[in-house]
Amino acid sequence: MTHATAVVRRIGRGLALAGLVLGGLALGSALPLGAAGQAQQAQQAQEEPLVVVYSARHYGYMEPVFRRFKEETGIEVRFTFGTDAELRERLKAEGRFTPADVYLGVDAGSLWLAAQEGLLQPLDSPVLRRNVPEQFRDPEGRWYGLTLRLRTIVHSKERVSPDELSTYEALADPRWRGRLCLRPASHVYTQSLVAGLIAAHGVEQAETIVRGWVANTPPGNFINSDTRLAQTVAAGGCDVSIISHYYLARLLREDKGFPVGLFWANQGAGERGVHANISGAGLVTWAPHPQNARRLLEWLSEGTGQRLFADGNWEYPVNPEVEPHPFLIETFGVPRVDPIPVWRYGELQRAAIELLNRVGYP
Ligand SMILES: [Fe+2]
Repeated sequence: MTHATAVVRRIGRGLALAGLVLGGLALGSALPLGAAGQAQQAQQAQEEPLVVVYSARHYGYMEPVFRRFKEETGIEVRFTFGTDAELRERLKAEGRFTPADVYLGVDAGSLWLAAQEGLLQPLDSPVLRRNVPEQFRDPEGRWYGLTLRLRTIVHSKERVSPDELSTYEALADPRWRGRLCLRPASHVYTQSLVAGLIAAHGVEQAETIVRGWVANTPPGNFINSDTRLAQTVAAGGCDVSIISHYYLARLLREDKGFPVGLFWANQGAGERGVHANISGAGLVTWAPHPQNARRLLEWLSEGTGQRLFADGNWEYPVNPEVEPHPFLIETFGVPRVDPIPVWRYGELQRAAIELLNRVGYP
């Protein structure tokens, strides 16, 4: 975004003096500037040192990340927290009066929706394009993945041996009758997982697989928390579940002896790899501080930003130049990831929800 459009946005927001600033810029572009004039222009182009983030990511450990960003750039980060859906509603209601610069979402399906709804604007950044693999960002630059969360199979170490496990699809087999627990259909993590199945197999075959999962899961075992799913496996309420890896990482950090193992799904020859999702961010359409927002997103996509942001929640860095935390490498290793572009979870979200409804998935 150019400085002039930033100024125009401020006028749209009804800020005082905006007309005066615009007048100054117009004059500046028409006449040669002296040193004082150039300094003045630079001053005018500068945003106040603030960036406002609407964040659906509220896992602790965010503070050190943004304290460090402020130390390095002088830009303060302010947060409003909520669920993905709440924050999108809020952005819609506030429109051009929103204080938000950045929308931080915890699922590609949610970021895709925010972009579809016109809440995010394209951010053309060579830095972000270099740091974030194509698979993990919007083709139009409206959002970029920043960390990877891998949704995979977890199992009781006492009642299930890893060689009984192979793929998501195989959990539809009747041998697992009564032994699964799963996240409900209303959660976007479930919808994206099923969107991945549809992308891999088509709707019909995906439906057969999901029907098998539902048949294997007692009605009381649809639990709307990945942490509680893992704890239910540990407590004997079920033997196998599908959760995002960082929830188990947290539980294992607290208790090394937690009796639940992680199994990377779909790693066999010819199989597509484990289901990867992102947490990521986009520039809000009406952002009052678009330059600071860009700086924050770029900073988060490399070096210290990646390190702190990923490690704070035991996620895998999206930037392939940044190594996963040693704890992740030692405990879980680094699996092969499904190469599907994650925006397809958004594109297939409606089909996934319809499928889940059809099979009576709770
Ligand atoms: Fe989560």
